[in-house]
Amino acid sequence: MATPEEQDLEGQLATMRRIRDEFGRVMLSYRFAMQEVRSKVEVLRQEYQELSTYNPIEHISSRLKSAESVVDKVLRKGLPRTMDSVRSIPDIAGVRVTCSFISDTYAIFEALTGQPDIAVITVKDYIDNPKPNGYRSLHAVVEVPVFLSTGAVRVPVEVQLRTVAMDAWASLEHKIFYKYRGEVPQDVIRRLGVAAEAADKLDREMEDLHEIVHGPRGEPDPAPLDPAVSDEVVRRLLDLFPGGRESAQTSNP
Ligand code: GTP
Ligand code: MG
Repeated sequence: MATPEEQDLEGQLATMRRIRDEFGRVMLSYRFAMQEVRSKVEVLRQEYQELSTYNPIEHISSRLKSAESVVDKVLRKGLPRTMDSVRSIPDIAGVRVTCSFISDTYAIFEALTGQPDIAVITVKDYIDNPKPNGYRSLHAVVEVPVFLSTGAVRVPVEVQLRTVAMDAWASLEHKIFYKYRGEVPQDVIRRLGVAAEAADKLDREMEDLHEIVHGPRGEPDPAPLDPAVSDEVVRRLLDLFPGGRESAQTSNP
């Protein structure tokens, strides 16, 4: 027969296991939601890559907050120590999309948030309204359904869309801040602002040049036909589509 101390310890262990399982389940749903959004962006990128001569996405990254920093954030924000507080943190899952030009960040935002299974929770346009330190990016918290064996749950994911120049600035600014551990000298802050303006100028100059060279941004040119697709195959495909070339181009697969 277990002593009262042993019973107490067993009780504590059972509670710890229950919390670990519940927390693990919540964190897992964030991982799946992050994979879902990332995969949606990958699909857009591959679609552009395969079907047009222009690809607006330079790269995609994603990250999941560690369990430790999730708990830290709940405590820092003075939230009740509950799983609901964990769920109220919007940036446990994050996907960052680095685009070529400013207009691409908005185009990808529209293409992603226009999807019927995505709900937009918040949008912060730090491109139009940069932060006082010069930080620019388009942020959105979106909610996606995750289908688990127990049913569907809707999970928020923070999406950050930015250009290469914005990304370079943010990444270096973060490193500088990290070095000073929050105590950044006034002159460094001022010069970071100057650098942010330079990054913005670079973005606008490049976008202008792109338009001069390629014409106003609209529908991208279709990619040239895959040389592996022979004339004979194209002829037979066209035969398959009544109405010929036009309907072959506009039909869904
Ligand atoms: P957090 O509590 O830090 O998540 O900020 P928030 O909830 O007010 O959201 P906000 O949209 O301001 O920032 C969210 C994320 O954007 C951060 O976690 C960073 O990844 C990025 N970010 C925001 N501001 C800055 C900045 O000044 N510099 C850099 N490098 N990144 C930033
Ligand atoms: Mg945040």
